[in-house]
Amino acid sequence: MNMASSALMLFLLVLYFSFQFSSSLDALNKGFSSLSVEKAEQDIIVSENGMFSAGFFEVGGNAFSFAIWFTTRPDSQNITTPTVVWMANRDQPVNGKRSKLSLLHTGNLALVDAGQFQVWSTETESNVPTELRLGNDGNLVLRELPGGHILWQSFDFPTDTLLPGQHLTRSTQLVSSRTESNHSSGFYKFSFDDGNVLTLVYDGPDVSSTYWPSPAITVWQAGRFTYNSSRIAVLNPLGAFDSSDNYNKRTSDYGAVLPRRLTIDHDGNLRVYSQDLSQKWYVSLQAISDSCTIHGICGANSVCRFDLKKGRKCSCVPGYKVKNQSDWSYGCESIFAATSNESKVTFLELGQVEFYGYDAYYLPNSTYTHCESLCLNNSNCKGFQYSYDNGAGVFKCYTKTQLLNGHFPGAAGTITYLKVPKGKSFPTSYEDSVIRNSDCSVKIHREYSKKHVSRFVSFLLWFATAIGVLEAACVFVVLFLIRSQHNSSIDPHGHHLATVGFRKFSYSELKKATKGFSQEIGRGAGGIVYKAILSDQRIAAVKKLNDAMQGEGEFLAEVSIIGRLNHMNLIEMWGYCAEGKHRLLVYEYMENGSLADNLSSNTLDWSKRYNIALGTARGLAYLHEECLEWILHCDIKPQNILLDSNYQPKVADFGLSKLLNRDVLNNDRNFSMIRGTRGYMAPEWVFNLAVTSKVDVYSYGIVLLEMITGKNPASDIQAINGDEPYNGRLVTWVREKKRECASWVEQIMDSALGSNYDENKMEILARVALDCIEEDNEQRPTMSQVVEMLQSQDCDPNGGA
Ligand SMILES: *[C@@H]1O[C@H](CO)[C@@H](O)[C@H](O)[C@H]1NC(C)=O
Ligand SMILES: *[C@@H]1O[C@H](CO)[C@@H](O)[C@H](O)[C@H]1NC(C)=O
Ligand SMILES: *[C@@H]1O[C@H](CO)[C@@H](O)[C@H](O)[C@H]1NC(C)=O
Ligand SMILES: *[C@@H]1O[C@H](CO)[C@@H](O)[C@H](O)[C@H]1NC(C)=O
Ligand SMILES: *[C@@H]1O[C@H](CO)[C@@H](O)[C@H](O)[C@H]1NC(C)=O
Ligand SMILES: *[C@@H]1O[C@H](CO)[C@@H](O)[C@H](O)[C@H]1NC(C)=O
Ligand SMILES: *[C@@H]1O[C@H](CO)[C@@H](O)[C@H](O)[C@H]1NC(C)=O
Repeated sequence: MNMASSALMLFLLVLYFSFQFSSSLDALNKGFSSLSVEKAEQDIIVSENGMFSAGFFEVGGNAFSFAIWFTTRPDSQNITTPTVVWMANRDQPVNGKRSKLSLLHTGNLALVDAGQFQVWSTETESNVPTELRLGNDGNLVLRELPGGHILWQSFDFPTDTLLPGQHLTRSTQLVSSRTESNHSSGFYKFSFDDGNVLTLVYDGPDVSSTYWPSPAITVWQAGRFTYNSSRIAVLNPLGAFDSSDNYNKRTSDYGAVLPRRLTIDHDGNLRVYSQDLSQKWYVSLQAISDSCTIHGICGANSVCRFDLKKGRKCSCVPGYKVKNQSDWSYGCESIFAATSNESKVTFLELGQVEFYGYDAYYLPNSTYTHCESLCLNNSNCKGFQYSYDNGAGVFKCYTKTQLLNGHFPGAAGTITYLKVPKGKSFPTSYEDSVIRNSDCSVKIHREYSKKHVSRFVSFLLWFATAIGVLEAACVFVVLFLIRSQHNSSIDPHGHHLATVGFRKFSYSELKKATKGFSQEIGRGAGGIVYKAILSDQRIAAVKKLNDAMQGEGEFLAEVSIIGRLNHMNLIEMWGYCAEGKHRLLVYEYMENGSLADNLSSNTLDWSKRYNIALGTARGLAYLHEECLEWILHCDIKPQNILLDSNYQPKVADFGLSKLLNRDVLNNDRNFSMIRGTRGYMAPEWVFNLAVTSKVDVYSYGIVLLEMITGKNPASDIQAINGDEPYNGRLVTWVREKKRECASWVEQIMDSALGSNYDENKMEILARVALDCIEEDNEQRPTMSQVVEMLQSQDCDPNGGA
């Protein structure tokens, strides 16, 4: 190592450590250390991967809570408030002066307000050294150092958020925050009920009720299973939410490894959020689609209506006025005096308005006059709901003592009749009021008497600081020594890219790993693929590119984009080699080979085929729609869909079109990167039309047809009726069968499957395939619509109702 590079290394390390030490901590140790509210900006514990931070979080003027949040990167300028995932003292913030979180000698972690009152503690005890550390998963763990026994962890005490891997159990619940900016406990709760079912409950100041799963249907109708008393629910990092009551859901971006969280929001809805690369959150799963069915939104005597543009709106029913304009949960009050003299009241019709709960009487088969007189006879009756039961062909009657959880439109055929005084006119079209959250922050000002810090204590503090600095210097020197020993193996690019598990390989290294490029496992666009065993014993697939772009910088730029893509249905790239004229790519190795191999050797039953179709669609949807860089594959075919040991598909060879020298490929008749492969090409290529992501959709559709029929669209010797130019023959044959016979799915099915398949699912697959190969690219669905269509097969009726 020469002088200049060691000097540079030293400089970088100094920079690195000065940053680390001035801005954050790794852990809190028993005895000396505490976090102080005055130094809220620096006294932050950061997880090793940097994703999470824990420290004092300002929740109001001079009011702080000890919290964990997603660290905001400095380049995400637009994100001003970090996303909090946990709070120790959400309902009792501490003063901005002299408040402290300390890990005491007794092993207790305690939060003290203004140097005086303990507002929160873990109530733990230990007489061995302990440490508080924030895990890469966002779990704050208090652990005994010898043995590693966990004394306490934040994952066992969630507030309103579950992080991937965190269990919701029989003893935990999520409680929403009060409003978007007020983090104290709100009215909505998410937990298992006594019948082992996951529920959302409105637990307001006056009333309480379950609104999800919908009370209009039984839990069985909602697809829930009530006999598994393990009561565990968990979100995994790929976006699958699974609960022991069979509420199993996949997020819309399922499969991508992204920061995610499941939160019960202050509006009572349960959502899974995912974070894109610019650190913005988007909703990838939502429990309730019609948010007016959430209870407690508009308060008593009002009706909630959902408007796609403006969101939810509350309005008072006729004859009532709003109690508190700035908080609709107070509801509305009547503007007339109640009367019990039945000859002085009348009923006002509110079409399609439905109220939930508080029925004095329920008659399953009633006449209008009978229902009306029931309400007239009861001075507490505010009105009645009269609805037609389609199944039985009769009218149902509910008389209401309270008008709560009103929403419009309710079930079809439902009318509510409102009891009002005779002879007065009330406007039947009531004024709308868009719900506003009163979100101005309340300032908490507390006065406390000041105590002087003794001289001895301040001396101790200085002493501790000095020791700390010395310790830091030692660590620094040791690390530097370790670093410089390893330095010979670090190359300038590899160092930078190592952070994403992606590295540069030398040509000789790969030559050795592939045993001199001896074991060929495939031939694809632009190169031959060899099996390799890397120095760390991982098995890899190494692709040697024939005619790759020669500029190394350009090549690296493209390759590192591909290396950043991360989805369970995309082949992972581990690294590359660019040396002299050699350009190689290193990928993970797939045990079960390609879809093409498996189709020809007939190893796939119908359910594997369906899963492969769904997984492939997910991978492509991610490429098309969710990456920052817009990527078309342009060469979808069974050879490029690889299968792992569980027959999960992974799309390979994406992003290559930019790496390869186009002229050379265009001259290759059989194998053009630009135009895809014969048999799978979209008509746009042939007719020279604008190329969009729909070319991949087309090729995908052909692959589906091949999976269904077992017939290869590119093969000339296939015995398919008809005779069409280019790749139309398989397509024409399937379309004809569909036109001609009702049992068309059966007719086109791969004979190798016999009659052993789910007819419904295969029909869905065939219909999706035909949609994808529409000649007009506008008519083809997008890949994410394909995912939805295939996924809706596994759906339960739980969502909206
Ligand atoms: C911040 O927001 C503005 C306006 O919405 C946008 O133009 C800009 O690109 C954003 N910056 C970042 C870093 O996202
Ligand atoms: C109950 O649920 C748990 C967690 O989802 C699962 O592991 C277990 O197999 C289930 N038990 C039964 C009897 O279904
Ligand atoms: C209305 O609600 C706001 C916010 O909750 C509250 O501060 C105010 O006191 C209420 N006003 C009345 C008249 O109840
Ligand atoms: C109800 O009102 C009518 C008309 O005002 C009156 O004649 C009658 O006496 C009242 N009945 C009772 C029970 O107050
Ligand atoms: C409803 O009530 C009417 C009158 O009592 C009766 O004739 C009819 O059979 C009832 N219908 C059902 C479905 O119970
Ligand atoms: C309502 O009260 C009147 C008189 O008190 C009685 O005749 C009638 O049957 C009652 N109606 C119902 C449905 O109870
Ligand atoms: C948050 O809401 C609670 C309950 O409504 C209230 O007591 C508290 O003062 C609010 N805190 C802030 C900071 O707005």
